[in-house]
Amino acid sequence: MRPNTTTVPSSEPRELLNTAQLRSALPLVSVRGLQVSYDPKKPVKVLDGVDLDLFRGEVVSLLGASGSGKSTLMKSLTGFAPVSAGTVRVAGHDVLNLRRGELRQLRSEVGQVFQQFNLIPRLSVLSNVLTGALHEAGAINLVGGFSSAHRRYAMELLDRVGIAHKARDQARSLSGGQQQRVAIARALMQRPRLILADEPVASLDPKLADSVLQLLRDIAVQDGIPVLVSLHVVPMALAHSDRIVGLRQGKMLVSGASDQLTAESLSGIYEQGDDDGN
Ligand SMILES: Nc1ncnc2c1ncn2[C@@H]1O[C@H](COP(=O)(O)OP(=O)(O)OP(=O)(O)O)[C@@H](O)[C@H]1O
Ligand SMILES: [Mg+2]
Repeated sequence: MRPNTTTVPSSEPRELLNTAQLRSALPLVSVRGLQVSYDPKKPVKVLDGVDLDLFRGEVVSLLGASGSGKSTLMKSLTGFAPVSAGTVRVAGHDVLNLRRGELRQLRSEVGQVFQQFNLIPRLSVLSNVLTGALHEAGAINLVGGFSSAHRRYAMELLDRVGIAHKARDQARSLSGGQQQRVAIARALMQRPRLILADEPVASLDPKLADSVLQLLRDIAVQDGIPVLVSLHVVPMALAHSDRIVGLRQGKMLVSGASDQLTAESLSGIYEQGDDDGN
């Protein structure tokens, strides 16, 4: 006999998720039906019907040939891409409907890591990391310097990424791998809720690349921060990410767990389509 759901007593034990469980169960990033068009007059869209979820603690790799839309997808998460359709939710923000101040707030919550590191070459390593806290330090601290708490935290982060001994050196004197570690420490200084890493290892040799990707993985797991990373090397994506999203000419061709995918099953991403114009 089916239970009469209308007469369940209120004292009946119910399985409710507590707030922490609920937060970790919901994706921090949720993109649905994303379309991006830089030139509305052109029929071909740069992104067309892309869906993406990012959960806390995971690394997701974006793969795709040059021009497939990887950077554009990342930009759309912080309101930097001309989205023509779809929804983009990041850390509770409805990204496509934010006012300017809210957009600034969102961007301060997203740590970014770039291929060329984007450090200030003449500044010390420590100062470069401290720039990650500019959004919370405000104008007064810019004049008066950062607080000792900020400095302590920046040093802790440099220790964590393995280059505390370089804190006083000029950023330009560091190797590429070390500079990328500074950039990651700077991103962490923001106390980010999400990290976007656009080809973070493209300028590094394979060994350094592996160590930087391992560092990003550790951050995702230990801090519960989702990391979206774009890569050009399939074995690296398979080795260092929980899930892989493959784009071809702006369309999502693959989306799956790394341990369910192989280099062969991902090769279609790099095949030229019929409408390839380049
Ligand atoms: N600001 C822009 N104005 C016009 N077109 C753009 C702009 N940015 C990107 N595009 C176009 O959008 C498409 C996707 O570019 P995107 O930079 O997202 O590709 P990608 O996958 O990151 O490539 P790569 O691997 O070379 O970095 C390309 O055809 C590119 O020319
Ligand atoms: Mg790119």
